[in-house]
Parts: sequence; C-alpha cells; structure tokens
Amino acid sequence: MFFDPADGMRPPPFKFSPFKSLVVPRPIGWISSVSAGGIVNLAPYSFFNAVAEDPPCVVYSVGGFHADGGPKDSLRNVEETGEFVFNLATFELREQMNQTSAQVARDVDEMAMAGLAAAPSIKVRPPRVRDAAANFECRYMQTVEIPSRKGQGRNAVVFGEVVGIHVRDDVIVEGMIDIKKMRPIARLGYNDYAVVDDFFTVLRPD
Ligand SMILES: Cc1cc2nc3c(=O)[nH]c(=O)nc-3n(C[C@H](O)[C@H](O)[C@H](O)COP(=O)(O)O)c2cc1C
Repeated sequence: MFFDPADGMRPPPFKFSPFKSLVVPRPIGWISSVSAGGIVNLAPYSFFNAVAEDPPCVVYSVGGFHADGGPKDSLRNVEETGEFVFNLATFELREQMNQTSAQVARDVDEMAMAGLAAAPSIKVRPPRVRDAAANFECRYMQTVEIPSRKGQGRNAVVFGEVVGIHVRDDVIVEGMIDIKKMRPIARLGYNDYAVVDDFFTVLRPD
C-alpha cells in the first residue's frame, strides 16, 4: 500500500500511525539536565541518535508540551543552561527509564523519583545515571525547529557536542564494548521495545 502523510497518518487498516514502527529500532536518548534553579531532570527520547563523529555529536527531538503548557524540561533546561547528559539505558533499567517519561511537576527531581543513583559529571553540571552502561557529557550546540503542520507546538531538534564519555568498566572486554553484556534497549512502535543481546558481523568488501 501507499499513503501520503499529508492525508493523515492512520489510513485504513491501521489502528495507529505506523510511522514509528517503521523506523526501528530507535536508540533511546535518556537525557539528564538541570534547570536554571538546579532541579535535576531525566527523560527518555527515542527521536535520538549520534550524527557526527568529529566532533562527536548527538541529537534528540522534543515534540509537544510540558503539562503546564510550556516546553518540556529537556528542552527548556538545555536551552537555558547549555548542558545535558545522554545516559545509555539497558534492560536492567527499563522500568526506571519508563518511569522517567511521566509528566511530573517541574520541581521534581526525576532521577530520585525513579530511585536511580546519581553520579557527578566531570565537565558539565547535570548528573549522570550512575548505573547506565555509558554516559555522554554534552554541550548544547543549537536547536533546529521543524514547524508543526497542525500547529501542535515545536518539534525542536537539539544538537549537542559530546565533551566527555563514561563507560562502565564491566562492559569493556578485551578492548571492545561487549554488547551481550551491555544489553542496550531500543524503542519499537507502540509500547514495544527491543533488547540487543545478539548480533552478527559482516565484513566490508574493501
Ligand atoms: C521510550 C520513550 C521515548 C520517548 N521519546 C520521545 C521523543 O523522542 N520526543 C518527545 O518529545 N517525547 C518522547 N517521549 C515522551 C517524553 O519522555 C515525555 O514527554 C516526558 O514527560 C518529557 O519529560 P521532560 O519534560 O522531563 O523532558 C518518550 C517516552 C518514552 C517512554
């Protein structure tokens, strides 16, 4: 079948938009930040990826609004304070990751709310999720706006330069990241997730 998104994202026979089920699996940017007043925030973003290696850069995209009508905390904090941390969520942390997607008041420390231990960062102010498999300390670069066709707020794509990388020692085996030990989780469509615990290797032709 074929459909034009401008005609609607849920043509028959789809019960829900298939869009996010067709770009899979998406890594989850579990973003910690602090507000200008020093409140710690943590939230998952699956419109997330690495987009450059030199310098290393990541992006995440914030759509919709905070429950109070303003921008979500992961956008407001980072635009105001210029720093964030990407925390790599693993299978063991799946429930806590999901908990931090709850809409809560801006003065709630979401790392503490989810029962997660915070560890200090080295080059930026936002703390890291201590038990994540890796953390990237990031400096905010810029926001690229994708105007909503339906006027449903901003689609704000936040770019950050990675200025510090933490890797949990137990996932480093013989000088490489051991994916089977790390077990990162990724977002599929609907409320479904994947865990990466197997892989195959393909050598390039040259
Ligand atoms: C796995 C997962 C992925 C998500 N990805 C996004 C996303 O890419 N963009 C977005 O705006 N919201 C996304 N959300 C919803 C936000 O996490 C949610 O709106 C959260 O309350 C935002 O919190 P904040 O205001 O603390 O930033 C996602 C939720 C989950 C559970």
